[in-house]
Parts: sequence; structure tokens; C-alpha cells
Amino acid sequence: MKIAVFVSGGGTNLQAIIDNTKTGILQDIEIVLVLSSSPDAYALTRAADNGIKSVVLRSADFADKAEWDQKVVEEVKASGAELVVLAGYLSLLGPKIVSEYSNRIINIHPALIPSFCGAGMYGIKPHRAALARGVKVSGATVHFVNENYDEGPILLQKSVDVLPDDTPEILQKRIMKECEWEILPKAIRLIADGKVEINNNIAYVRE
Ligand code: GRF
Repeated sequence: MKIAVFVSGGGTNLQAIIDNTKTGILQDIEIVLVLSSSPDAYALTRAADNGIKSVVLRSADFADKAEWDQKVVEEVKASGAELVVLAGYLSLLGPKIVSEYSNRIINIHPALIPSFCGAGMYGIKPHRAALARGVKVSGATVHFVNENYDEGPILLQKSVDVLPDDTPEILQKRIMKECEWEILPKAIRLIADGKVEINNNIAYVRE
């Protein structure tokens, strides 16, 4: 299966996918495109280092959002990707890409949805909010993407304990290492194997 990975920042989740295509559970998966919303994303260096085609598309560089949305669709179509993976991608997708790739776009969110998600909840913020609320577990969620932030069907979740000495940064790191880098490749594996079904906004895994 061919996939496109959308990024905006450091790209550690992209790296986890790349590593799994080499020596892990995704050896039959090809990353055909890395699409970045920022020219400065370190994820672009990771793509280049691994010979993966990349493109930068900033909505601000287009006449309007519709034109940008159209260009995103064209890039994904041209790449031949069957699945779009949002891995730290910070822009809200346009309606065209969401409808053309309905049930074929997934996102990783660094909290247990429906907690600490939605507009503005990115980067360190979900972890700050989790500690401020005093939750005893947090984690990450892979979900399908619709037009609203973090509202599509939940595919996989993994939790970790919140520890007494956690800072937002420590919790963020633990969730990336123990949850995100594991469940995002796993979600791609399940979809590639045709093991995921969606009914009435609920995702079911058929093992
Ligand atoms: C991750 O915490 C991801 O869950 C969130 O943004 C962060 C991206 O990190 N959506 P990276 O760019 O994959 O290193």
C-alpha cells in the first residue's frame, strides 16, 4: 500500500513510520509523499535523508483556501497514495481532500480523545491541560479525520500512567515514545490488511 504523510514539525512520528518500513511491521508499505505545511519542518530533512518525495503547501501562499485544498488533492492523487497519515500536521484540512479521501485519512493526537482535543489542542498544550486537570492516565489516539478537529472515528488508543513528578514535557516525551510511535504504525498496518470497518462513526477492528 502507498501512503502520504502530512507533517508540520519535527517528524518523529514520520520517522517511526519510516523505521517500520525498513525493519518493522510496514515493510510492504511505501511512503510516496511527505506533504508539509511549513518549509522549516525538520520532517522534510527526514524525508530527504530517506529519498522520499516531499512538497511544501502553505494555504497562505494560495489565493484562497479552496485553491489550496484543490492543490492538496492533486498532490495526493498524483502520488498514488491510498491512505493519508497526518503525523503532527497542524493545518485543518479542506473539505475537498476530506471528502475525496473519506475514511482514508488518519491522524495521531497526543491525548485520549475526547479529552484534551479540538481546536488549539496541539503540541505541548494537551499535556499541560492533562496535568492541570490532574488526570491519572493520558496517552494517544489514532482516529479517522473529518472536517472537525479530532472528531472522526477512533481507531486505536494507548495509555500511560501520569506520574507525580511529570512536567508537560516529560509526559509529552513518554506519550510519544510509548504510545504514538507504536500505535500510528500499527494503525497503518491494520488498514493495509483490510481489518478496519467503519459503521455509524465507529471504527471496528476485525482481527
Ligand atoms: C505529536 O505529539 C503528535 O501527536 C501531534 O504533534 C506532535 C508531532 O510530533 N499531533 P512529530 O512532528 O511527529 O515529532
